[in-house]
Amino acid sequence: RVLTQDELKKIAAYKAVEYVESGMVIGLGTGSTAKHAVDRIGELLHQGKLKNIIGIPTSKKTHEQAISCGIPLANLDSYPIVDLAIDGADEVDPFMNLVKGRGGSLLREKMIESACKKFICIVDETKLVKYLGGSGLAMPVEVVPFCWKFSAERLKNLFQDSGCVAKLRTFPENGEPFVTDNENYIIDLYFQKDIGDLNVASDTILRLPGIVDHGMFINMATTVIVAGELGITIKNK
Ligand code: A5P
Repeated sequence: RVLTQDELKKIAAYKAVEYVESGMVIGLGTGSTAKHAVDRIGELLHQGKLKNIIGIPTSKKTHEQAISCGIPLANLDSYPIVDLAIDGADEVDPFMNLVKGRGGSLLREKMIESACKKFICIVDETKLVKYLGGSGLAMPVEVVPFCWKFSAERLKNLFQDSGCVAKLRTFPENGEPFVTDNENYIIDLYFQKDIGDLNVASDTILRLPGIVDHGMFINMATTVIVAGELGITIKNK
Protein backbone atom coordinates (compact mmCIF):
# COMPACT_ATOMS: atom_id res chain seq x y z
CA ARG A 1 0.00 0.00 0.00
CA VAL A 2 1.24 3.48 -0.83
CA LEU A 3 1.55 5.62 2.30
CA THR A 4 -0.39 8.87 2.43
CA GLN A 5 1.44 12.18 2.79
CA ASP A 6 0.12 12.48 6.33
CA GLU A 7 1.47 9.03 7.23
CA LEU A 8 4.89 10.07 5.92
CA LYS A 9 4.73 13.28 7.98
CA LYS A 10 3.95 11.20 11.05
CA ILE A 11 6.87 8.83 10.40
CA ALA A 12 9.30 11.78 10.17
CA ALA A 13 7.82 13.36 13.30
CA TYR A 14 8.02 10.19 15.39
CA LYS A 15 11.62 9.66 14.30
CA ALA A 16 12.51 13.19 15.45
CA VAL A 17 10.90 12.65 18.84
CA GLU A 18 13.40 9.82 19.42
CA TYR A 19 15.97 12.62 19.89
CA VAL A 20 13.99 14.12 22.79
CA GLU A 21 15.36 13.33 26.26
CA SER A 22 13.88 13.92 29.70
CA GLY A 23 14.75 17.33 31.14
CA MET A 24 15.03 19.05 27.75
CA VAL A 25 13.62 22.40 26.70
CA ILE A 26 11.94 21.70 23.37
CA GLY A 27 10.89 24.12 20.63
CA LEU A 28 7.50 22.91 19.43
CA GLY A 29 6.91 23.56 15.74
CA THR A 30 3.77 24.52 13.86
CA GLY A 31 1.93 22.84 11.00
CA SER A 32 0.55 19.47 10.05
CA THR A 33 3.93 17.66 10.37
CA ALA A 34 5.03 19.25 13.65
CA LYS A 35 1.58 18.52 15.07
CA HIS A 36 2.43 14.79 15.07
CA ALA A 37 5.63 15.47 17.02
CA VAL A 38 3.76 17.50 19.64
CA ASP A 39 1.16 14.75 20.00
CA ARG A 40 3.91 12.15 20.38
CA ILE A 41 5.77 14.15 23.05
CA GLY A 42 2.49 14.52 24.96
CA GLU A 43 1.91 10.77 24.68
CA LEU A 44 5.40 9.89 25.97
CA LEU A 45 5.01 12.34 28.88
CA HIS A 46 1.68 10.77 29.70
CA GLN A 47 3.22 7.27 29.64
CA GLY A 48 6.05 8.46 31.92
CA LYS A 49 8.65 7.64 29.23
CA LEU A 50 9.65 11.32 29.13
CA LYS A 51 9.85 13.55 32.19
CA ASN A 52 10.48 17.23 32.97
CA ILE A 53 10.00 18.50 29.44
CA ILE A 54 9.45 22.23 28.91
CA GLY A 55 7.86 23.11 25.57
CA ILE A 56 8.38 26.45 23.83
CA PRO A 57 5.53 26.75 21.29
CA THR A 58 6.15 28.52 17.98
CA SER A 59 2.55 29.71 17.52
CA LYS A 60 -0.70 30.29 19.36
CA LYS A 61 -2.08 27.19 17.65
CA THR A 62 0.74 24.97 18.89
CA HIS A 63 0.40 26.58 22.33
CA GLU A 64 -3.20 25.37 22.46
CA GLN A 65 -2.36 21.92 21.11
CA ALA A 66 0.50 21.48 23.61
CA ILE A 67 -1.75 22.48 26.52
CA SER A 68 -4.32 19.93 25.44
CA CYS A 69 -1.52 17.31 25.30
CA GLY A 70 -0.40 18.19 28.84
CA ILE A 71 3.03 19.56 27.89
CA PRO A 72 4.32 22.17 30.39
CA LEU A 73 5.07 25.40 28.51
CA ALA A 74 7.33 28.42 28.81
CA ASN A 75 8.78 31.06 26.48
CA LEU A 76 12.16 32.42 25.41
CA ASP A 77 12.12 35.09 28.11
CA SER A 78 12.38 32.43 30.79
CA TYR A 79 14.24 29.81 28.71
CA PRO A 80 16.52 31.66 26.26
CA ILE A 81 18.41 28.48 25.37
CA VAL A 82 16.42 25.72 23.73
CA ASP A 83 17.93 22.22 23.62
CA LEU A 84 16.12 21.01 20.55
CA ALA A 85 13.40 22.24 18.21
CA ILE A 86 11.33 20.02 15.93
CA ASP A 87 9.44 21.66 13.08
CA GLY A 88 8.25 21.09 9.53
CA ALA A 89 9.09 23.10 6.42
CA ASP A 90 7.52 23.98 3.10
CA GLU A 91 10.70 23.50 1.09
CA VAL A 92 14.12 22.00 1.80
CA ASP A 93 17.03 22.60 -0.59
CA PRO A 94 20.06 20.27 -0.98
CA PHE A 95 22.01 22.40 1.54
CA MET A 96 19.33 22.05 4.24
CA ASN A 97 18.10 25.62 3.79
CA LEU A 98 14.35 25.92 4.27
CA VAL A 99 11.29 27.89 3.33
CA LYS A 100 8.85 28.09 6.21
CA GLY A 101 5.77 30.08 7.03
CA ARG A 102 3.08 28.94 4.65
CA GLY A 103 1.15 28.40 7.87
CA GLY A 104 2.00 31.99 8.82
CA SER A 105 4.10 31.30 11.93
CA LEU A 106 7.53 32.11 10.53
CA LEU A 107 8.53 34.85 12.96
CA ARG A 108 8.08 32.94 16.21
CA GLU A 109 9.50 29.83 14.53
CA LYS A 110 12.61 31.74 13.49
CA MET A 111 13.06 33.36 16.93
CA ILE A 112 12.85 30.00 18.67
CA GLU A 113 14.74 27.92 16.11
CA SER A 114 17.61 30.40 16.06
CA ALA A 115 17.90 29.95 19.85
CA CYS A 116 18.27 26.17 19.60
CA LYS A 117 21.27 23.98 20.12
CA LYS A 118 19.72 21.56 17.61
CA PHE A 119 16.95 22.07 15.09
CA ILE A 120 15.45 18.97 13.48
CA CYS A 121 13.41 19.70 10.40
CA ILE A 122 10.83 17.02 9.56
CA VAL A 123 9.35 16.66 6.10
CA ASP A 124 7.86 14.19 3.67
CA GLU A 125 9.73 13.87 0.40
CA THR A 126 7.39 16.21 -1.52
CA LYS A 127 9.09 19.14 0.25
CA LEU A 128 12.49 18.58 -1.37
CA VAL A 129 13.42 21.23 -3.98
CA LYS A 130 16.51 22.02 -6.07
CA TYR A 131 16.50 25.65 -4.90
CA LEU A 132 14.32 27.68 -2.51
CA GLY A 133 11.28 29.05 -4.30
CA GLY A 134 11.61 26.13 -6.73
CA SER A 135 8.28 24.53 -5.89
CA GLY A 136 6.46 27.49 -7.43
CA LEU A 137 4.66 27.95 -4.12
CA ALA A 138 4.86 30.99 -1.87
CA MET A 139 7.91 32.36 -0.08
CA PRO A 140 6.25 34.27 2.77
CA VAL A 141 7.36 37.63 4.13
CA GLU A 142 5.84 39.05 7.33
CA VAL A 143 5.24 42.81 7.07
CA VAL A 144 3.68 45.44 9.31
CA PRO A 145 0.14 46.23 8.09
CA PHE A 146 0.97 49.95 7.67
CA CYS A 147 1.14 50.67 3.90
CA TRP A 148 1.53 47.01 3.03
CA LYS A 149 0.96 47.75 -0.67
CA PHE A 150 4.05 49.93 -0.66
CA SER A 151 6.02 47.09 0.99
CA ALA A 152 4.67 44.53 -1.48
CA GLU A 153 5.72 46.73 -4.40
CA ARG A 154 9.20 47.19 -2.97
CA LEU A 155 9.57 43.44 -2.40
CA LYS A 156 8.48 42.70 -5.96
CA ASN A 157 10.97 45.25 -7.33
CA LEU A 158 13.84 43.66 -5.38
CA PHE A 159 13.37 40.42 -7.31
CA GLN A 160 12.35 41.78 -10.73
CA ASP A 161 15.01 39.64 -12.43
CA SER A 162 13.49 36.48 -10.95
CA GLY A 163 10.03 37.39 -12.26
CA CYS A 164 8.68 37.98 -8.77
CA VAL A 165 4.98 38.33 -8.06
CA ALA A 166 3.99 39.66 -4.60
CA LYS A 167 0.52 38.96 -3.17
CA LEU A 168 -1.09 39.85 0.13
CA ARG A 169 -2.18 36.64 1.86
CA THR A 170 -5.95 36.71 2.33
CA PHE A 171 -8.68 34.36 3.44
CA PRO A 172 -10.31 32.90 0.32
CA GLU A 173 -13.77 32.98 1.98
CA ASN A 174 -13.95 36.75 2.50
CA GLY A 175 -10.82 38.30 1.01
CA GLU A 176 -9.80 39.65 4.44
CA PRO A 177 -6.04 39.81 5.12
CA PHE A 178 -4.53 36.89 7.01
CA VAL A 179 -3.21 38.28 10.33
CA THR A 180 -0.26 36.60 12.04
CA ASP A 181 0.09 35.83 15.76
CA ASN A 182 2.05 39.10 15.94
CA GLU A 183 -0.76 41.14 14.32
CA ASN A 184 1.13 41.53 11.05
CA TYR A 185 0.33 40.69 7.41
CA ILE A 186 1.98 38.20 5.08
CA ILE A 187 3.13 39.07 1.57
CA ASP A 188 3.65 35.87 -0.44
CA LEU A 189 6.40 36.06 -3.05
CA TYR A 190 6.30 33.79 -6.11
CA PHE A 191 9.37 33.44 -8.32
CA GLN A 192 9.73 32.32 -11.93
CA LYS A 193 13.46 31.74 -11.54
CA ASP A 194 16.10 30.95 -8.92
CA ILE A 195 16.70 34.01 -6.68
CA GLY A 196 20.43 33.26 -6.48
CA ASP A 197 22.48 33.89 -3.34
CA LEU A 198 20.14 33.37 -0.40
CA ASN A 199 22.14 35.44 2.07
CA VAL A 200 22.08 38.40 -0.31
CA ALA A 201 18.33 37.93 -0.85
CA SER A 202 17.77 37.71 2.89
CA ASP A 203 19.82 40.82 3.69
CA THR A 204 18.11 42.87 0.98
CA ILE A 205 14.66 41.91 2.22
CA LEU A 206 15.51 42.58 5.87
CA ARG A 207 16.92 46.02 5.05
CA LEU A 208 13.50 47.27 3.90
CA PRO A 209 11.72 49.22 6.64
CA GLY A 210 8.32 47.70 7.39
CA ILE A 211 9.51 44.15 6.81
CA VAL A 212 9.45 42.04 9.95
CA ASP A 213 11.02 38.79 8.69
CA HIS A 214 10.94 36.32 5.83
CA GLY A 215 10.43 32.58 5.53
CA MET A 216 13.94 31.64 4.38
CA PHE A 217 15.66 29.70 7.15
CA ILE A 218 19.24 29.73 5.95
CA ASN A 219 21.76 27.42 7.59
CA MET A 220 19.51 26.85 10.62
CA ALA A 221 18.49 23.18 10.47
CA THR A 222 21.10 20.89 12.03
CA THR A 223 19.24 17.71 10.99
CA VAL A 224 16.68 17.06 8.27
CA ILE A 225 14.54 13.94 8.51
CA VAL A 226 12.82 13.06 5.24
CA ALA A 227 10.16 10.36 5.12
CA GLY A 228 9.53 8.86 1.71
CA GLU A 229 8.05 5.79 0.08
CA LEU A 230 11.42 4.04 0.33
CA GLY A 231 12.00 4.87 4.00
CA ILE A 232 13.57 7.54 6.17
CA THR A 233 16.62 9.61 5.21
CA ILE A 234 18.48 11.56 7.89
CA LYS A 235 20.85 14.32 6.92
CA ASN A 236 23.05 16.06 9.50
CA LYS A 237 25.10 19.26 9.38
C1 A5P B 1 4.18 27.21 9.64
O1 A5P B 1 4.19 28.58 9.51
C2 A5P B 1 5.20 26.61 8.78
O2 A5P B 1 6.47 27.12 8.83
C3 A5P B 1 5.21 25.11 8.80
O3 A5P B 1 6.22 24.57 9.57
C4 A5P B 1 5.36 24.69 7.40
O4 A5P B 1 4.43 25.45 6.68
C5 A5P B 1 5.15 23.21 7.18
O5 A5P B 1 3.83 22.90 7.38
P1 A5P B 1 3.24 21.46 7.14
O6 A5P B 1 3.97 20.54 8.05
O7 A5P B 1 1.78 21.60 7.47
O8 A5P B 1 3.46 21.14 5.70
